[in-house]
Amino acid sequence: EKGGFKHFMLKEIFEQPKVIRDCLLGRVDQQSGQVRLPELDGLPVPERLHIVACGTSYHAGLWGLYLLEKLAGIPVQVEIASEFRYRDPILPKNGVVLAISQSGETMDTMAGVKLAKSRGLPVIGLCNVVGSSISRESDYVVYSQAGPEISVASTKAMCSQLCALLLLTLYWGRRSGRLDTAQCTAILRGLQDMPRVLEDALPSLRAEAQRLARHYAEATSFLYLGRGPSYPLALEGALKLKEISYIHAEGYASGEMKHGPIALIDPRFPTFAMALDDEFFPKVKSNLVEVQARAGEIIALTNEGLDLAVEHPWFVPKAQAPLSAFVVLPALQLFAYEMADYLGKDVDQPRNLAKSVTVE
Ligand code: M6R
Repeated sequence: EKGGFKHFMLKEIFEQPKVIRDCLLGRVDQQSGQVRLPELDGLPVPERLHIVACGTSYHAGLWGLYLLEKLAGIPVQVEIASEFRYRDPILPKNGVVLAISQSGETMDTMAGVKLAKSRGLPVIGLCNVVGSSISRESDYVVYSQAGPEISVASTKAMCSQLCALLLLTLYWGRRSGRLDTAQCTAILRGLQDMPRVLEDALPSLRAEAQRLARHYAEATSFLYLGRGPSYPLALEGALKLKEISYIHAEGYASGEMKHGPIALIDPRFPTFAMALDDEFFPKVKSNLVEVQARAGEIIALTNEGLDLAVEHPWFVPKAQAPLSAFVVLPALQLFAYEMADYLGKDVDQPRNLAKSVTVE
């Protein structure tokens, strides 16, 4: 059932082209370049959005914030569910809660849904498992359509959440008039092309991940850095490495590095950076120069043609801004996977973890 792959995690990473296709299925109107999400047609465009989630789903939500604010013009707050539920949050009446959960069974996220409902806010569930508790409790459900995810470490589910969040952004952005048809069509074309880009790229991403994992297998700690929408991906890269290889890793907004973590940098503390060809590149580059001044080694996910000199540039196909995440994400997942596998860890069943966290 692993389809010839050594682990479910690897199989699920390689399923991501199909996951994007499936998430888009029936949701794009080619003629008008519009996104169809009939499940939300009864809900006006939210005036404020509170995203509530845990773990990887929380990182997806944080990525969604960058898009929803910039492209759809919706003010967004992203909340760790276990904090949200006990904080007595201020939830203005014009707000909508978006609960993101692969399993749809995470207890803290469910508690966030119940809290929102008790305050009279409409709740949208972005879930993968059909008929799950959160999907049943929510007023509106958008399914991410990733298919069953077996590996404890979430991979393809996040890909589908990013895809659904991008669709939501385009859907609301068009409805509010913030996005015009041309902008929407351009992003949709890029997204529809992404499965093919990924199918081409995945084998070489894996080969590079394998090579890097052998080089860095002795490392005991990693700093993951990203800016803008790559910041949540830095958090996710660090989480993946921690949970399956048991190597300590911290994800940081790269601009925050000089406010503390820079003190950790030395030749034995490598940095894994997202330094893509986007508006954030000059800033990320200057952060990396500071790492190099302290003799820190760097892996950088980057694009060809940029002026960046680091030990391990890892070139990925260039994609326009919100779409680069779909290429960066599998690279981060594959690096964590290859590290864990090389170190002989139980990739699909990491110690102390359960697939869905149904207790507090
Ligand atoms: O099923 P959910 O999306 O609600 O799960 C949330 C987290 O428990 C989950 O993403 C967890 O962090 C994964 N093990 C990450 O790989």
